[in-house]
Amino acid sequence: MSDDLRHALSTLHPSPVDVDPVAYGQDWTRVATPAPLAVVQPQTVQEVQSIVRWARTHRVALVPSGGRTGLSGGAVAARGELVVSMDRMRAITEFRAADQSLTVEAGVTTQEVQEAARHHGLFYPVDFASRGSSQIGGNVATNAGGIRVLRYGLTRERVLGLKIVTGTGELLDLNRGLVKNATGYDLRHLVIGSEGTLGIVVEATLRLVEAPPPQQVMMLALSGLEAIMPVFASLRRRLTLSAFEFLTDKALRHVVAAGARRPFALEAPVLVLAEFDANEDAAVAAFVDAQQAGYVVDAVVSQSDAQAAELWRVREGITESLARFTPYKNDIAVRVGDVPAFLVSADALFAREYPDWEVVWFGHIGDGNLHISILPPLGHPPSEFRHSCERVTELLGNLLAVFGGSISAEHGVGLWKKPVLHCSRPAMEIALMRGVKSLFDPDGLMNPGKIFDPATATSMS
Ligand code: MLT
Ligand code: ZN
Repeated sequence: MSDDLRHALSTLHPSPVDVDPVAYGQDWTRVATPAPLAVVQPQTVQEVQSIVRWARTHRVALVPSGGRTGLSGGAVAARGELVVSMDRMRAITEFRAADQSLTVEAGVTTQEVQEAARHHGLFYPVDFASRGSSQIGGNVATNAGGIRVLRYGLTRERVLGLKIVTGTGELLDLNRGLVKNATGYDLRHLVIGSEGTLGIVVEATLRLVEAPPPQQVMMLALSGLEAIMPVFASLRRRLTLSAFEFLTDKALRHVVAAGARRPFALEAPVLVLAEFDANEDAAVAAFVDAQQAGYVVDAVVSQSDAQAAELWRVREGITESLARFTPYKNDIAVRVGDVPAFLVSADALFAREYPDWEVVWFGHIGDGNLHISILPPLGHPPSEFRHSCERVTELLGNLLAVFGGSISAEHGVGLWKKPVLHCSRPAMEIALMRGVKSLFDPDGLMNPGKIFDPATATSMS
């Protein structure tokens, strides 16, 4: 670190904190080598503004940091950036019963929002396995999705108001909790999904919903990919679905090896999990429809919350069960009706190009979002495998372009999908995004190098 930078750091308020810089410089991808300049943990909006103004003066790049559970490198600080962690901005500041809204600081976790909603007799439906660590600021920055998008939509649908500190240190109070506001461009929606490149989210006002009736979970073992859409249609006809997820037999094998209970004795290539407003008769009728059509090999319906949780563990435990292999991961989207055809094309591509690789699919099939994990072949050096996988991203990107799909459904572009962004977004759209960024962040200090930004050296000093 240069003497100038050391001196500049001594003038930073609040001062950097003594935490593990490695932990704060990376997300769950664990691919880049973290190398932040320092970590700072503001407690107030004014402190966030003062940090941004300091960064402008000293031309130091900033990486906003939440729970760092991301899977695209969006929160990676590997080039001497100052990490702005929201860990100390954890207040739930307001509940408004008439608005059914909750206002929280950016460092409040997704689970804390869910619990606060429950405390007020309401429900916050955005949910995923990392709920205990992921923070609302990060959820907004990535437009987090998860398991109940089918019924309630993404984080975007939940945000009634947003406060952000822009790259110039200004505080914007966007939409102020209004349901209707027809006064021109809705800047709130530019910030949602912007991955920290426009500013730092400091507070969000979230729209809660009525608590749903008791839920039941049904897991079905299906005859093959061709069964998924007809089964989805027949469940939708009979039941009010909250989630419709899928996993392949390979995913099941890994999660069972990691300790989950096997839901069926019989083998089947594809499993789906449906969560719905409890209705035993309708569930049986939906199962009978699907069975008579020859799609269902076996089925199990939860009879208690504990059984429902056990079935969810099979789906939600997959990521953790694969983590020890350090797999290649991607989260892609196609239109819901195109899912089976896309899977057939993708499987054919992998069989042709990489016949020895184990490809594991699972995901939120009810909203067209598929997660792919590829495990390195035994004995394959990790660095070589990672290198080979750059081509995988390219091949997937090209295939997605044919389907009009997206290279990121919910994890964001971050660092790792930047090279294939053009497969999902035309040049004109990328140019417009660049223009928007330059208005919010004229000095390019906010999370440089992410989404479309070519910046490589992110520390300006
Ligand atoms: C999931 O749906 O389990 C997550 O998005 C995580 C993953 O892709 O591994
Ligand atoms: Zn997911």
